[in-house]
Amino acid sequence: MLPPVQRRTFMATSVASLCASAFGAMPAKPLGKGRPIVIASSNGLETVKLAMDLIKKGHDPLDAAVAGVGIVEADPSDHTVGLGGIPNEDGVVELDSAVMHGPTHGGGSVASLRNIMHPAAVARLVMKRTDHCLLTGEGALRFAKMHGFPEENLLTDDARKFWLYWKETVSKNDDRIPPPIDELDPAVKAFFGPRYVREYGTIHCSALDTHGNLGCTTTTSGLYFKIPGRVGDSPIIGAGLYLNNDVGSAGSTGRGEANILNCSSFLAVEEMRRNPDKSLKDCLIESCKRIAATNRDKRLQDAKGRPNFNVRFFAVRKNGEFAGASLYAGVKMAVHDGESARLVDCSSLYDEVLDESL
Ligand code: GLY
Repeated sequence: MLPPVQRRTFMATSVASLCASAFGAMPAKPLGKGRPIVIASSNGLETVKLAMDLIKKGHDPLDAAVAGVGIVEADPSDHTVGLGGIPNEDGVVELDSAVMHGPTHGGGSVASLRNIMHPAAVARLVMKRTDHCLLTGEGALRFAKMHGFPEENLLTDDARKFWLYWKETVSKNDDRIPPPIDELDPAVKAFFGPRYVREYGTIHCSALDTHGNLGCTTTTSGLYFKIPGRVGDSPIIGAGLYLNNDVGSAGSTGRGEANILNCSSFLAVEEMRRNPDKSLKDCLIESCKRIAATNRDKRLQDAKGRPNFNVRFFAVRKNGEFAGASLYAGVKMAVHDGESARLVDCSSLYDEVLDESL
């Protein structure tokens, strides 16, 4: 395993990495007359600010979204995306991401990508510089390096400590001995506190530009401590994101397996297409209902037969309407309407807030 990232190394590499997040971006064009909107999951407040800034300078909506999520991909304190993401069960960070571009209806994605901080930008190059939609693992890494992305260790010291403690406590019947609670590193204690959730975090960003064109991306380090090679919904077009440039754009965070099994983001955009007069939040609730209706595995149900996990959807329509909806309440989303960036409440299928703590 490569040594963990130290702060000085991070600062030196992050400059090169942030430049890499622009690989494949297009030059700016003259502005149109439409009102731009950028939305993201709740960890994307800075994302929507940067993306809106770029859109107002005439940049393509996909390029704006990819640059915006690049902030979170480079943020070591977000443990669900990019650098600092929680590793797989072997202690290796594996990233998934996809992009879609409205004007061309193009899409690209990468899955199980190691050592590259900006998988969304690599996904954009898969879309632009190959005849394919999805590259995985070693092939995706070689493709990224070929295009000049720097290879670096994405396992931060904190994430390594969280993984080590998880490894030491996952079974009582093996040879590992966790430290006594009063000797536990404060960062580890805080991470595995009473609200600990084995997260399916992620960031989604959808952008509508002044010409009424859409672009979107979803990027993630996926499920904490996953089986190596596990791929979630984020790089699966139709599951973790989808757009139709005549209709709107949607993406999701949460239990990726539920989205893969229901093509949930595609379903949300299709619902929008078929029902132009239906409110956007109700279109997203349809995807939530579909997940609830098909969740037949008792292992994944609560005492009332409802899903025991959350899935969240975020969307923008071509007319600028935006909304978010989730299975359980208490979810927020980030939005920039051209005037200001803020967090707003999402709707939910169930009124309760899911107690996801273990
Ligand atoms: N939605 C992120 C994942 O399941 O990996």
